[in-house]
Amino acid sequence: MRTRRKRGLLLLCMMLSAGMMLFCTGCGRKTQPEDETIRIGVSIYDQYDTFLSQLMEYMNRYVAEKKNDGMQISVLVYDAAASQKTQNEQVQQMIEEGCRVMCINLVDRTAPTSVIDQARKHNIPVIFFNRELVEEDLMQWDQLYYVGADAFQSGILQGELAVSIFEEDPSLDRNGDGAVQYVVLEGEAGHQDAIIRTEYSVKTMIDKGIPVDKTGYAIANWNRSQAQTKMSQMIDEYREEIELVLANNDDMALGAIDAYQALDIPEKERPVILGIDGTDVGLEAVRTGELAGTVYNDKEGQARAIVDLACALITGEGKEELSLTDGKYIRLPYELITAENAAQFRNR
Ligand code: BGC
Repeated sequence: MRTRRKRGLLLLCMMLSAGMMLFCTGCGRKTQPEDETIRIGVSIYDQYDTFLSQLMEYMNRYVAEKKNDGMQISVLVYDAAASQKTQNEQVQQMIEEGCRVMCINLVDRTAPTSVIDQARKHNIPVIFFNRELVEEDLMQWDQLYYVGADAFQSGILQGELAVSIFEEDPSLDRNGDGAVQYVVLEGEAGHQDAIIRTEYSVKTMIDKGIPVDKTGYAIANWNRSQAQTKMSQMIDEYREEIELVLANNDDMALGAIDAYQALDIPEKERPVILGIDGTDVGLEAVRTGELAGTVYNDKEGQARAIVDLACALITGEGKEELSLTDGKYIRLPYELITAENAAQFRNR
């Protein structure tokens, strides 16, 4: 047990030295006795994921803002480093550290059983976030919740954005064949956001009357450098044919831009590139025009919802105000981002 605890603390130190996280802060209520510290455990699937690290940065700020309001809370953050086995061990550590709610960004969204079993055994509620487990798993116990967003909406918004861009400027159909030749940079295989975003952005374009041709497709695991490699291969193969790049997230859209830059292909000869997320780097690329647009994945709203729900579960107060769907889900809406409104999404 001592070794385990040491490992947990070591991780925390690593997280702190990576400049990421948050500790011993308040939860916004004054009813808690001073000597009682409430612990919330958070495990993220991979600290190098841009979207998740920004979500955690904001969570840190949000919790810190509340710190002087009363109840003392320590938030213990763990990086699962892309291993479900490690995450399962972290759940055990959270229990040993006395966490009263566990917030889990599953590594493998199809394998929540160990997390659920351990939580249930110790009667500790779990808030899963961002990587959505299937409904049957969430229904296994009444103390399981999910905070995230509606993947369908992000795909639809990205598709609508593509439609408006191509309708506004028909010259973007470079070969003038009346159809849009597109490639997809897809996130992780099996991730709910990857599958649904790809399907619905393409479906939306077709539904709105834009003929499309799928020129290429590559999985790049949400990752910028993988996307650059995959995009370079597709440019090599299809070069001028590509008129649109649909990336499942901003990091992969930026990887596509990196690929064009590395090949010294001037901006006016590049296809329309679209992302999803509205991370800081994504917003900057929209501002400079390299990224034609993106879709806001509300990391701030999700971070607030996780903390507010955790507080409500611990204190037994305020859950009704969070309006959970089916008593289990909180989903934040997506929003469209173009150069016109990108500035509004900075420092939310
Ligand atoms: C985000 C991606 C992120 C992934 C991680 C998605 O919702 O759009 O940027 O890498 O979640 O699970």
